[in-house]
Amino acid sequence: MKTYIVGNWKLNFSVGEASIYLHKLLKRVPNYRDVEVVVAPGALALQSLSLQIDRHKMKLAAQNAYYRDYGAYTGEVSFNQLRGLADYCIVGHSERRYIFREDDKMIQKKVEAAVRNKITPILCVGETESERAFGETADVIRDQVVGGLSEISEEDLDKVIIAYEPVWAISSTKSAKLASPDEIAEVVKLIRKILTDTYSAKVAEAVPILFGGSVNPSNAGAYLTVPGVNGLLIGGSSLILSEFADIIETAKRVKS
Ligand code: PGA
Repeated sequence: MKTYIVGNWKLNFSVGEASIYLHKLLKRVPNYRDVEVVVAPGALALQSLSLQIDRHKMKLAAQNAYYRDYGAYTGEVSFNQLRGLADYCIVGHSERRYIFREDDKMIQKKVEAAVRNKITPILCVGETESERAFGETADVIRDQVVGGLSEISEEDLDKVIIAYEPVWAISSTKSAKLASPDEIAEVVKLIRKILTDTYSAKVAEAVPILFGGSVNPSNAGAYLTVPGVNGLLIGGSSLILSEFADIIETAKRVKS
């Protein structure tokens, strides 16, 4: 399986800044066949970056999209409209769940719409600090994984990526802490078990599981060697070119 390094730019960079950043990143990063580099700019930049990007080197992700293909949904962008622009789309990020109140039902429809439109959803799951403190982590993860994938058939499971992002470890969270490799390994193992219980072991084993939450160049190597982790979803550190490039190089090193 490839290693996935996904940069989530969130609500940062103008269209021009995004283009300059991508230009520099393309110059800096060689073509690593076994590392899939993905950047997720804001929706407005997707059109121009899709013309600029070298798809042999890296891919584009959207940060969000709506599950209806078209219609009276003022302000939304559909997965259908993303066709040809983005290869991936982040779905169910904790900022979507908690700031924009997306529930598992909405997220499940988005995962289904992404797959239907041939865009790979990166389904984010993760417990909050209080859910962890109350011992609810396993239940929350199970609900989010099973709920998010409930419209995905056995044969479509290979079109899905899962990202474990404990909400308390995300850098924008007030009291963000670093997740330990053991904490990550335990949840990643649980996610794999949920997939194996729901689908056949063969397809479940092939689903990439990423980790995200305050990843930076100094911890990326440790996180990439956590058993069961197939890549990283990076917020803050992906905005700094030298750091993101460093993480990509680390992924290459760990892989070989
Ligand atoms: P962070 O964000 O790397 O800044 O913690 C990760 C994310 O929210 O996807």
